Amino acid sequence: MSVKPKVLITRKIPEEGIKIVMEHCTTEVSDFDGVLPREVLLDKVKEKDGILCLLTDTIDQEVMEAAGPNLKVIANYAVGFDNIDVEEATRRGIMVTNTPGVLTETTADLAWTLMMSIARRIVEGDKFVRAGKFRGWEPLLLLGTDIYGSTLGIVGFGRIGQAMARRASGFNMKVIYYDMQRVSSQTENELKASFRPLPELLQEADFITVHVPLTPETHHLIGEKELNMMKREAYLINSARGPIIDEKALARALKENRIRGAALDVFEREPEVEPELLKLDNVVLAPHLGSASYATRTKMAVMAADNLVRVLRGETPPNLVNREIIGK
Ligand code: NAP
Ligand code: GLV
Ligand code: GLV
Repeated sequence: MSVKPKVLITRKIPEEGIKIVMEHCTTEVSDFDGVLPREVLLDKVKEKDGILCLLTDTIDQEVMEAAGPNLKVIANYAVGFDNIDVEEATRRGIMVTNTPGVLTETTADLAWTLMMSIARRIVEGDKFVRAGKFRGWEPLLLLGTDIYGSTLGIVGFGRIGQAMARRASGFNMKVIYYDMQRVSSQTENELKASFRPLPELLQEADFITVHVPLTPETHHLIGEKELNMMKREAYLINSARGPIIDEKALARALKENRIRGAALDVFEREPEVEPELLKLDNVVLAPHLGSASYATRTKMAVMAADNLVRVLRGETPPNLVNREIIGK
């Protein structure tokens, strides 16, 4: 690399990642404390060889066009890449990379936390104590639902979905899963998980946790009809992507007590939240915290930076999303 490649990092990420990029590239790190406004993004990507971006940046045809013909890599600081038009990138010979694996356990921990919080009414309880309403132990105060021994329905049985199954064994849960394809019988046996078509899973599970990526096929995978298939005592947990669930339909189902509760880390129109949800006690809301541990965010930064630098050195990066690009 005689002339250093030019790179844009769209927002401050952990220093460990920035350092790696800076060693190899002429690096511009946005110092704007927010998602870069569209016009600013379109201006800053000009003549860049690489972009290290976030899931909150929409990287579409217009952005790739604005970057110009030097652009070789879009390195996402996330495992999900629904914010990037991958087909368009492939057409243009641009490599797209993500950060799988390093955030699996951290995200599963968060999904588990959401499940326990809604089942045992922890957020309601916290508000109750702070409001000065606690007058001592009561036989019927804030009763919830047992997780131990119940049935967990996992929608999307990839890395994070399977990490949920491993946690479930410590809670003596029956585990059922739905995915586009069944895992091997060896994996099913190891994880004590049985396949169910989605409608059956919806009817059988006490807790349903969503771990599919957002794609045209999974948009509103859970809508009015699917919510109506769930048991009245069941809970829905989403730490994947907001638009996988029809948020308005969910708010109606919760309001009418057609299901017992929900816990969400992601929303259909982030950072907007369906106003009806904000009024309800039977839903726990988190601000997209899935991978938000110190250790994991650092690992993601290093991984995204390494992916980016490798492409700019002419190598195949370890976490290439559009594999079909090789040999193009
Ligand atoms: P993964 O390993 O790719 O798992 C996703 C699973 O869903 C795969 O088994 C995939 O099957 C399956 N799938 C894809 N399309 C489907 C469909 N239409 N119907 C049924 N199953 C389908 O991904 P992961 O690492 O577990 O991450 C899952 C998602 O979680 C990410 O895409 C991201 O959006 C989200 N996420 C959120 C946070 C957060 O902060 N809340 C953090 C990390 C991840 P194939 O492998 O056959 O495609
Ligand atoms: C977070 O949502 C991710 O996809 O990494
Ligand atoms: C509750 O605190 C109990 O002792 O049962």
